[in-house]
Amino acid sequence: MSLQALFGITHPFLQAPMAGASTPELVAAVSGAGGLGGLGAASMGRDFLRQQIQAIRGLTNKPFNVNLFSPASQIPDPSPQPEDAVLALIERYHREFGIDEKPVLESPYGDPAVQLEVLIEERVPVISFHFGVESGHVEAIHSAGLKVICSATTIEEAKWLDTLGVDAIIAQGAEAGGHRGTFIGDYRDALIGTMALVPQVVDVVKVPVIAAGGIMDARGIVAAYALGAAGVQMGTAFLGCPEAGIADLWRNQLLASSPSRPRVTTAMSGKPARGLRNRYIEDMEALGDALLPYPLQYALSAPVRRKALAVGNADFHAMWSGQGVGLLEQMPAAALMATLIEESESLKSQLM
Ligand SMILES: Cc1cc2nc3c(=O)[nH]c(=O)nc-3n(C[C@H](O)[C@H](O)[C@H](O)COP(=O)(O)O)c2cc1C
Repeated sequence: MSLQALFGITHPFLQAPMAGASTPELVAAVSGAGGLGGLGAASMGRDFLRQQIQAIRGLTNKPFNVNLFSPASQIPDPSPQPEDAVLALIERYHREFGIDEKPVLESPYGDPAVQLEVLIEERVPVISFHFGVESGHVEAIHSAGLKVICSATTIEEAKWLDTLGVDAIIAQGAEAGGHRGTFIGDYRDALIGTMALVPQVVDVVKVPVIAAGGIMDARGIVAAYALGAAGVQMGTAFLGCPEAGIADLWRNQLLASSPSRPRVTTAMSGKPARGLRNRYIEDMEALGDALLPYPLQYALSAPVRRKALAVGNADFHAMWSGQGVGLLEQMPAAALMATLIEESESLKSQLM
């Protein structure tokens, strides 16, 4: 089945849900242009999540996607404590910035069970998951007559999701910005490029495959079709849009970056994610295995990230980015969608 028929959209272009970067304005602009906008809701509590969904509905009557992190991403029990070397590094930063506050070691993410309840009550048309999905959640979403999709970073993960009965699978290649969706095995074995991953996933699953990772313009979109994808999910490309809720400092760093700057690291959150290398990442990586597990590693740097951002210092900010960053353009989301639609149609006809 086409993604157009599955989701009730005109163009099979998904704007990646990006926790901390997607906004109702971005989602509505993409859905309003005939694609599928996506809200990254992993950090949202019940009331805020409901408000955000209502804000999207106030801006568009088109289908949209809301994304959650799977429950497997919650705090480990018992909760581990940071090693001395990590604490000493954080204390050094705090002295440098004159920060008195201590990091509070709690998850920056909401409870996925509560979040899912809201999404089902609000009848969000498409619900997506990162880090895998529970079979009970797939059943609950389907019983409510809604669609569920999830990212895979390997063939094994894609087969697993297909068996669970998700409606489509996002094949997230190694080029992708943000967290790796890996939920089976070692992430280092799951850094498979989009070019290699997509056709191999297409060959083994029954459902439509959405290519993600490094796709920035019509060339990437048409290449994804050639690999057998039914459509694309693009994240980094939308960070150049004024509707994306990111700090100017982050956008400016993206605009000045080449593809060798984004690195997959566990130093920022404790889980592998691709973002622009900076001082914090370099310093933490030098401590090797001392890092805390996700999501506690993220909580550790919250005070210094806040303070550094407030004084315009990019050394500590989590600046997720894919390897396509050198192709980033600054334009409103509706204009980006219009460009992608027109140029991919024209490129397809030139190639035929
Ligand atoms: C800033 C940023 C935040 C992201 N946050 C999420 C998220 O909350 N949930 C999710 O499923 N994927 C998230 N991703 C990953 C995207 O879903 C997608 O795999 C990726 O953006 C595709 O690669 P690209 O950035 O090269 O387009 C994020 C990506 C970026 C760049």
